[in-house]
Amino acid sequence: MNTCSLRQYNTFGIDVQAANFLQYRSEAELAELFASGSVTAPWLHIGAGSNLLFMGDYPGTILHSLIDDIEVTAETPETVDLRVGAGVVWDNLVEHCVDQGWYGAENLSLIPGEVGAAAVQNIGAYGVEVKDLIVSVETMGADGAAHTYPVEACCYAYRDSLFKRPHMKREFVTRVNLRLSKREVYRLDYGTIRQELARHPRIDLPTVRRVIIGIRQAKLPDPKVQGNAGSFFKNPVIGRKQYEQLHDTYPDLPGYATADDRVKVPAAWLIERCGWKGKALGRAAVHDRQALVLVNLGGATGADILALAQAIRQSVRTQFDIEIEPEVNVISARKGEGPCD
Ligand code: EPU
Repeated sequence: MNTCSLRQYNTFGIDVQAANFLQYRSEAELAELFASGSVTAPWLHIGAGSNLLFMGDYPGTILHSLIDDIEVTAETPETVDLRVGAGVVWDNLVEHCVDQGWYGAENLSLIPGEVGAAAVQNIGAYGVEVKDLIVSVETMGADGAAHTYPVEACCYAYRDSLFKRPHMKREFVTRVNLRLSKREVYRLDYGTIRQELARHPRIDLPTVRRVIIGIRQAKLPDPKVQGNAGSFFKNPVIGRKQYEQLHDTYPDLPGYATADDRVKVPAAWLIERCGWKGKALGRAAVHDRQALVLVNLGGATGADILALAQAIRQSVRTQFDIEIEPEVNVISARKGEGPCD
Protein backbone atom coordinates (compact mmCIF):
# COMPACT_ATOMS: atom_id res chain seq x y z
CA MET A 1 0.00 0.00 0.00
CA ASN A 2 1.29 3.48 -0.91
CA THR A 3 0.06 5.83 1.83
CA CYS A 4 0.24 9.43 0.63
CA SER A 5 -0.71 12.90 1.79
CA LEU A 6 -3.38 14.38 -0.48
CA ARG A 7 -2.58 17.97 0.44
CA GLN A 8 -1.00 18.75 -2.93
CA TYR A 9 -3.73 16.77 -4.76
CA ASN A 10 -6.66 18.99 -3.75
CA THR A 11 -6.74 22.71 -4.46
CA PHE A 12 -8.55 23.41 -1.16
CA GLY A 13 -5.27 22.30 0.43
CA ILE A 14 -7.03 20.01 2.93
CA ASP A 15 -4.44 17.93 4.77
CA VAL A 16 -5.68 14.32 4.58
CA GLN A 17 -4.09 10.95 3.75
CA ALA A 18 -4.94 8.32 1.16
CA ALA A 19 -4.45 4.72 2.30
CA ASN A 20 -3.24 3.85 -1.21
CA PHE A 21 -2.18 6.30 -3.95
CA LEU A 22 -1.49 4.95 -7.45
CA GLN A 23 -0.45 6.72 -10.63
CA TYR A 24 -0.14 5.26 -14.13
CA ARG A 25 1.35 6.36 -17.47
CA SER A 26 -0.63 4.29 -19.96
CA GLU A 27 -3.87 2.36 -20.44
CA ALA A 28 -1.86 -0.87 -20.11
CA GLU A 29 -0.48 0.22 -16.71
CA LEU A 30 -3.99 1.11 -15.52
CA ALA A 31 -5.32 -2.31 -16.58
CA GLU A 32 -2.38 -4.00 -14.82
CA LEU A 33 -3.10 -2.15 -11.54
CA PHE A 34 -6.61 -3.63 -11.49
CA ALA A 35 -5.60 -7.07 -12.79
CA SER A 36 -2.91 -7.42 -10.10
CA GLY A 37 -5.29 -6.48 -7.28
CA SER A 38 -3.26 -3.34 -6.40
CA VAL A 39 -6.41 -1.19 -6.41
CA THR A 40 -7.99 -1.66 -3.00
CA ALA A 41 -11.65 -0.63 -2.57
CA PRO A 42 -13.17 1.87 -2.37
CA TRP A 43 -11.41 3.77 -5.12
CA LEU A 44 -11.61 7.29 -6.46
CA HIS A 45 -10.02 8.62 -9.63
CA ILE A 46 -8.87 12.22 -9.34
CA GLY A 47 -7.48 14.83 -11.72
CA ALA A 48 -5.74 17.84 -10.21
CA GLY A 49 -8.20 17.83 -7.29
CA SER A 50 -9.63 21.21 -8.26
CA ASN A 51 -13.20 20.08 -7.71
CA LEU A 52 -12.93 17.92 -4.59
CA LEU A 53 -13.58 18.42 -0.89
CA PHE A 54 -12.12 15.66 1.29
CA MET A 55 -13.93 15.25 4.61
CA GLY A 56 -11.15 13.11 6.10
CA ASP A 57 -8.51 10.49 5.30
CA TYR A 58 -9.43 8.42 2.25
CA PRO A 59 -9.70 4.77 3.26
CA GLY A 60 -9.10 3.20 -0.16
CA THR A 61 -7.21 3.87 -3.40
CA ILE A 62 -6.78 7.23 -5.10
CA LEU A 63 -5.96 6.81 -8.80
CA HIS A 64 -4.29 9.52 -10.89
CA SER A 65 -3.42 9.53 -14.59
CA LEU A 66 0.00 10.60 -15.83
CA ILE A 67 -0.95 10.06 -19.50
CA ASP A 68 0.30 13.37 -20.77
CA ASP A 69 0.81 13.31 -24.53
CA ILE A 70 -0.79 15.64 -27.06
CA GLU A 71 -0.97 14.15 -30.59
CA VAL A 72 -2.30 15.68 -33.80
CA THR A 73 -4.47 12.96 -35.36
CA ALA A 74 -5.92 14.82 -38.36
CA GLU A 75 -5.62 18.20 -40.02
CA THR A 76 -7.45 20.06 -42.77
CA PRO A 77 -7.01 23.68 -43.92
CA GLU A 78 -9.87 24.52 -41.50
CA THR A 79 -9.42 22.30 -38.45
CA VAL A 80 -6.97 20.31 -36.38
CA ASP A 81 -7.87 17.19 -34.38
CA LEU A 82 -5.99 16.46 -31.17
CA ARG A 83 -5.82 13.34 -29.00
CA VAL A 84 -4.87 14.47 -25.52
CA GLY A 85 -3.95 12.42 -22.45
CA ALA A 86 -6.23 12.74 -19.41
CA GLY A 87 -3.25 13.77 -17.26
CA VAL A 88 -2.36 16.86 -19.32
CA VAL A 89 -2.81 20.04 -17.29
CA TRP A 90 -5.78 21.79 -18.90
CA ASP A 91 -4.20 25.22 -19.11
CA ASN A 92 -1.00 23.79 -20.66
CA LEU A 93 -3.21 22.46 -23.46
CA VAL A 94 -4.89 25.85 -23.90
CA GLU A 95 -1.49 27.56 -24.01
CA HIS A 96 -0.25 25.04 -26.60
CA CYS A 97 -3.33 25.65 -28.80
CA VAL A 98 -2.87 29.43 -28.58
CA ASP A 99 0.85 29.10 -29.43
CA GLN A 100 0.00 26.97 -32.48
CA GLY A 101 -2.70 29.39 -33.68
CA TRP A 102 -5.59 26.96 -33.04
CA TYR A 103 -8.87 28.64 -32.04
CA GLY A 104 -11.56 27.50 -29.62
CA ALA A 105 -9.99 26.82 -26.23
CA GLU A 106 -8.79 30.34 -25.33
CA ASN A 107 -11.91 31.32 -23.32
CA LEU A 108 -11.15 28.34 -21.07
CA SER A 109 -7.70 29.72 -20.16
CA LEU A 110 -6.44 29.26 -16.60
CA ILE A 111 -9.21 26.88 -15.50
CA PRO A 112 -7.45 24.67 -12.94
CA GLY A 113 -7.46 20.92 -13.48
CA GLU A 114 -6.52 18.26 -16.00
CA VAL A 115 -7.94 17.21 -19.37
CA GLY A 116 -9.65 14.01 -18.17
CA ALA A 117 -11.56 15.78 -15.41
CA ALA A 118 -12.40 18.64 -17.80
CA ALA A 119 -14.26 16.13 -19.99
CA VAL A 120 -16.04 14.56 -16.99
CA GLN A 121 -17.07 17.90 -15.54
CA ASN A 122 -17.76 19.74 -18.83
CA ILE A 123 -15.79 22.75 -17.62
CA GLY A 124 -17.00 26.08 -18.91
CA ALA A 125 -16.28 29.78 -18.78
CA TYR A 126 -16.98 32.96 -20.74
CA GLY A 127 -19.56 31.45 -23.09
CA VAL A 128 -17.65 28.26 -23.98
CA GLU A 129 -17.92 24.73 -22.60
CA VAL A 130 -15.36 22.00 -23.29
CA LYS A 131 -18.11 19.90 -24.94
CA ASP A 132 -18.04 22.46 -27.79
CA LEU A 133 -14.53 21.20 -28.64
CA ILE A 134 -14.89 17.48 -27.88
CA VAL A 135 -15.19 14.93 -30.68
CA SER A 136 -15.02 11.82 -28.49
CA VAL A 137 -13.84 10.56 -25.10
CA GLU A 138 -11.79 7.40 -24.56
CA THR A 139 -12.11 5.39 -21.35
CA MET A 140 -10.77 2.22 -19.80
CA GLY A 141 -12.80 0.14 -17.39
CA ALA A 142 -11.68 -1.58 -14.19
CA ASP A 143 -12.13 -4.78 -16.25
CA GLY A 144 -9.47 -3.60 -18.73
CA ALA A 145 -11.96 -2.91 -21.56
CA ALA A 146 -11.42 0.24 -23.66
CA HIS A 147 -14.34 2.29 -24.99
CA THR A 148 -14.69 5.40 -27.15
CA TYR A 149 -17.77 7.59 -26.65
CA PRO A 150 -18.62 10.00 -29.47
CA VAL A 151 -19.63 13.39 -28.09
CA GLU A 152 -23.33 12.73 -28.81
CA ALA A 153 -23.17 9.76 -26.42
CA CYS A 154 -21.55 11.76 -23.61
CA CYS A 155 -24.88 13.37 -22.43
CA TYR A 156 -23.22 16.73 -21.98
CA ALA A 157 -25.15 19.42 -20.10
CA TYR A 158 -24.20 22.30 -17.80
CA ARG A 159 -21.33 20.92 -15.62
CA ASP A 160 -22.66 17.42 -16.28
CA SER A 161 -21.89 14.35 -18.40
CA LEU A 162 -22.38 10.62 -18.74
CA PHE A 163 -19.08 10.13 -16.87
CA LYS A 164 -20.61 11.49 -13.64
CA ARG A 165 -23.32 8.81 -13.54
CA PRO A 166 -22.93 6.17 -10.81
CA HIS A 167 -22.78 3.30 -13.33
CA MET A 168 -19.73 4.94 -14.97
CA LYS A 169 -17.68 4.94 -11.75
CA ARG A 170 -15.90 1.79 -12.97
CA GLU A 171 -14.65 3.57 -16.11
CA PHE A 172 -11.91 6.17 -16.26
CA VAL A 173 -11.27 8.76 -18.94
CA THR A 174 -7.87 8.05 -20.49
CA ARG A 175 -7.79 10.40 -23.51
CA VAL A 176 -9.95 13.14 -25.00
CA ASN A 177 -10.26 13.87 -28.73
CA LEU A 178 -10.81 17.54 -29.51
CA ARG A 179 -11.28 19.58 -32.69
CA LEU A 180 -9.90 23.15 -32.83
CA SER A 181 -10.33 25.67 -35.62
CA LYS A 182 -7.49 27.01 -37.77
CA ARG A 183 -9.82 29.78 -38.97
CA GLU A 184 -9.93 32.94 -36.89
CA VAL A 185 -13.09 32.67 -34.72
CA TYR A 186 -13.69 34.16 -31.28
CA ARG A 187 -16.46 34.08 -28.66
CA LEU A 188 -16.38 37.55 -27.14
CA ASP A 189 -19.93 38.27 -26.02
CA TYR A 190 -19.73 37.18 -22.38
CA GLY A 191 -19.49 39.79 -19.62
CA THR A 192 -16.75 42.36 -20.02
CA ILE A 193 -14.56 40.60 -22.63
CA ARG A 194 -15.23 43.13 -25.43
CA GLN A 195 -14.80 46.04 -23.05
CA GLU A 196 -11.42 44.71 -21.89
CA LEU A 197 -10.32 43.97 -25.47
CA ALA A 198 -11.05 47.57 -26.46
CA ARG A 199 -7.94 48.58 -24.48
CA HIS A 200 -5.73 46.53 -26.82
CA PRO A 201 -4.64 47.68 -30.30
CA ARG A 202 -5.74 44.44 -31.98
CA ILE A 203 -7.63 41.24 -31.34
CA ASP A 204 -5.65 38.04 -31.76
CA LEU A 205 -5.44 34.70 -29.96
CA PRO A 206 -2.71 35.64 -27.45
CA THR A 207 -4.55 38.87 -26.63
CA VAL A 208 -7.84 37.07 -26.01
CA ARG A 209 -6.03 34.59 -23.75
CA ARG A 210 -4.37 37.44 -21.85
CA VAL A 211 -7.69 39.25 -21.40
CA ILE A 212 -9.46 36.12 -20.13
CA ILE A 213 -6.60 35.45 -17.70
CA GLY A 214 -6.81 39.04 -16.51
CA ILE A 215 -10.58 38.81 -15.89
CA ARG A 216 -10.17 35.54 -13.97
CA GLN A 217 -7.24 36.79 -11.89
CA ALA A 218 -9.18 39.91 -10.91
CA LYS A 219 -12.03 37.84 -9.42
CA LEU A 220 -10.85 34.35 -8.62
CA PRO A 221 -8.30 33.51 -5.91
CA ASP A 222 -5.19 31.58 -7.01
CA PRO A 223 -5.40 28.13 -5.36
CA LYS A 224 -1.61 28.20 -4.89
CA VAL A 225 -2.01 31.25 -2.66
CA GLN A 226 -5.38 30.56 -1.02
CA GLY A 227 -7.00 27.10 -1.09
CA ASN A 228 -10.24 26.99 -3.10
CA ALA A 229 -12.02 24.91 -5.73
CA GLY A 230 -13.40 27.64 -8.01
CA SER A 231 -17.19 27.88 -7.93
CA PHE A 232 -18.38 25.83 -4.97
CA PHE A 233 -22.01 25.77 -6.17
CA LYS A 234 -23.67 25.38 -9.57
CA ASN A 235 -25.92 28.17 -10.80
CA PRO A 236 -29.49 27.01 -10.09
CA VAL A 237 -32.15 26.78 -12.80
CA ILE A 238 -35.65 27.74 -11.65
CA GLY A 239 -39.12 27.86 -13.21
CA ARG A 240 -40.07 31.00 -15.14
CA LYS A 241 -42.98 31.73 -12.78
CA GLN A 242 -40.78 31.61 -9.69
CA TYR A 243 -38.22 33.80 -11.46
CA GLU A 244 -40.87 36.40 -12.33
CA GLN A 245 -42.19 36.46 -8.75
CA LEU A 246 -38.68 36.91 -7.37
CA HIS A 247 -37.92 39.53 -10.00
CA ASP A 248 -40.92 41.59 -8.78
CA THR A 249 -39.34 41.67 -5.32
CA TYR A 250 -35.70 41.96 -6.52
CA PRO A 251 -35.74 43.84 -9.85
CA ASP A 252 -31.96 43.53 -10.21
CA LEU A 253 -31.98 39.69 -9.99
CA PRO A 254 -30.12 38.57 -13.13
CA GLY A 255 -31.57 35.65 -15.12
CA TYR A 256 -30.60 33.80 -18.30
CA ALA A 257 -33.27 31.84 -20.22
CA THR A 258 -32.41 28.19 -20.81
CA ALA A 259 -33.41 26.14 -23.87
CA ASP A 260 -36.35 24.58 -21.97
CA ASP A 261 -37.84 27.96 -20.98
CA ARG A 262 -36.53 27.92 -17.43
CA VAL A 263 -34.23 30.56 -15.98
CA LYS A 264 -30.65 30.16 -14.73
CA VAL A 265 -29.83 32.59 -11.94
CA PRO A 266 -26.34 33.37 -10.65
CA ALA A 267 -25.81 31.63 -7.32
CA ALA A 268 -23.17 34.31 -6.59
CA TRP A 269 -25.90 36.98 -6.66
CA LEU A 270 -28.13 34.99 -4.27
CA ILE A 271 -25.23 34.36 -1.88
CA GLU A 272 -24.15 37.99 -1.94
CA ARG A 273 -27.74 39.12 -1.28
CA CYS A 274 -27.84 36.83 1.77
CA GLY A 275 -24.91 38.85 3.12
CA TRP A 276 -22.28 36.13 2.83
CA LYS A 277 -19.76 37.78 0.48
CA GLY A 278 -16.43 38.17 2.30
CA LYS A 279 -17.79 36.54 5.50
CA ALA A 280 -15.90 33.85 7.41
CA LEU A 281 -17.12 30.95 9.50
CA GLY A 282 -14.14 29.59 11.42
CA ARG A 283 -11.30 28.83 8.99
CA ALA A 284 -13.52 28.93 5.89
CA ALA A 285 -14.76 32.05 4.10
CA VAL A 286 -16.69 33.34 1.12
CA HIS A 287 -14.27 35.05 -1.27
CA ASP A 288 -14.62 38.83 -1.16
CA ARG A 289 -14.54 39.28 -4.97
CA GLN A 290 -16.64 36.27 -6.12
CA ALA A 291 -19.34 35.01 -3.78
CA LEU A 292 -19.50 31.61 -5.48
CA VAL A 293 -16.01 30.72 -4.31
CA LEU A 294 -15.33 29.35 -0.83
CA VAL A 295 -11.77 29.68 0.45
CA ASN A 296 -9.57 27.98 3.02
CA LEU A 297 -8.26 30.74 5.29
CA GLY A 298 -5.52 28.37 6.47
CA GLY A 299 -5.75 25.01 8.20
CA ALA A 300 -9.45 24.48 7.37
CA THR A 301 -10.80 20.93 7.44
CA GLY A 302 -13.38 19.55 5.02
CA ALA A 303 -15.92 19.91 7.84
CA ASP A 304 -15.12 23.65 8.18
CA ILE A 305 -15.75 24.24 4.46
CA LEU A 306 -18.87 22.07 4.47
CA ALA A 307 -20.31 23.85 7.53
CA LEU A 308 -19.99 27.16 5.68
CA ALA A 309 -21.53 25.67 2.53
CA GLN A 310 -24.47 24.32 4.52
CA ALA A 311 -25.06 27.66 6.26
CA ILE A 312 -25.07 29.38 2.85
CA ARG A 313 -27.49 26.86 1.34
CA GLN A 314 -29.80 27.34 4.31
CA SER A 315 -29.76 31.15 3.90
CA VAL A 316 -30.51 30.94 0.17
CA ARG A 317 -33.31 28.44 0.84
CA THR A 318 -34.86 30.67 3.52
CA GLN A 319 -34.57 33.95 1.64
CA PHE A 320 -35.30 32.84 -1.94
CA ASP A 321 -36.81 29.33 -1.70
CA ILE A 322 -34.05 28.12 -4.05
CA GLU A 323 -31.85 25.04 -3.58
CA ILE A 324 -28.24 25.56 -4.60
CA GLU A 325 -26.30 22.38 -5.27
CA PRO A 326 -22.54 22.00 -4.82
CA GLU A 327 -20.49 21.75 -7.99
CA VAL A 328 -17.63 20.43 -5.88
CA ASN A 329 -17.63 16.69 -5.08
CA VAL A 330 -17.72 16.11 -1.34
CA ILE A 331 -15.80 12.91 -0.52
CA SER A 332 -17.02 11.39 2.73
CA ALA A 333 -14.35 10.24 5.19
CA ARG A 334 -16.23 7.31 6.68
CA LYS A 335 -16.37 5.08 3.65
CA GLY A 336 -14.78 7.09 0.86
CA GLU A 337 -16.45 7.08 -2.50
CA GLY A 338 -16.34 4.58 -5.29
CA PRO A 339 -18.12 1.67 -6.90
CA CYS A 340 -17.20 -0.73 -4.11
CA ASP A 341 -18.69 1.20 -1.16
N1 EPU B 1 -22.41 38.04 -9.17
C1 EPU B 1 -22.74 38.60 -7.95
N2 EPU B 1 -21.80 38.59 -6.95
C2 EPU B 1 -20.58 38.06 -7.12
C3 EPU B 1 -20.22 37.52 -8.37
C4 EPU B 1 -21.16 37.51 -9.38
O1 EPU B 1 -23.85 39.09 -7.77
O2 EPU B 1 -19.81 38.08 -6.14
C5 EPU B 1 -23.44 37.98 -10.22
C6 EPU B 1 -23.36 39.12 -11.20
O3 EPU B 1 -24.67 39.46 -11.55
C7 EPU B 1 -22.68 38.50 -12.41
C8 EPU B 1 -23.21 37.08 -12.35
O4 EPU B 1 -23.29 36.78 -10.95
O5 EPU B 1 -23.07 39.13 -13.59
C9 EPU B 1 -22.32 36.07 -13.03
O6 EPU B 1 -21.01 36.15 -12.48
P1 EPU B 1 -19.74 35.54 -13.25
O7 EPU B 1 -19.68 36.02 -14.66
O8 EPU B 1 -18.54 35.74 -12.39
O9 EPU B 1 -20.10 34.00 -13.38
P2 EPU B 1 -20.66 32.91 -12.37
O10 EPU B 1 -22.00 32.49 -12.84
O11 EPU B 1 -20.55 33.35 -10.95
C10 EPU B 1 -19.70 30.99 -13.87
C11 EPU B 1 -18.91 29.73 -13.69
C12 EPU B 1 -17.43 30.04 -13.50
C13 EPU B 1 -16.94 30.80 -14.73
C14 EPU B 1 -17.79 32.07 -14.88
C15 EPU B 1 -17.43 32.84 -16.15
C16 EPU B 1 -20.45 28.15 -12.63
C17 EPU B 1 -20.78 27.38 -11.40
N3 EPU B 1 -19.41 28.98 -12.53
O12 EPU B 1 -19.62 31.71 -12.64
O13 EPU B 1 -16.74 28.82 -13.44
O14 EPU B 1 -15.57 31.15 -14.61
O15 EPU B 1 -19.18 31.71 -14.99
O16 EPU B 1 -17.90 32.16 -17.27
O17 EPU B 1 -21.10 27.98 -13.66
C18 EPU B 1 -15.97 27.16 -11.89
O18 EPU B 1 -16.79 26.39 -12.39
O19 EPU B 1 -15.20 26.80 -10.96
C19 EPU B 1 -15.90 28.54 -12.36
C20 EPU B 1 -15.11 29.45 -11.80
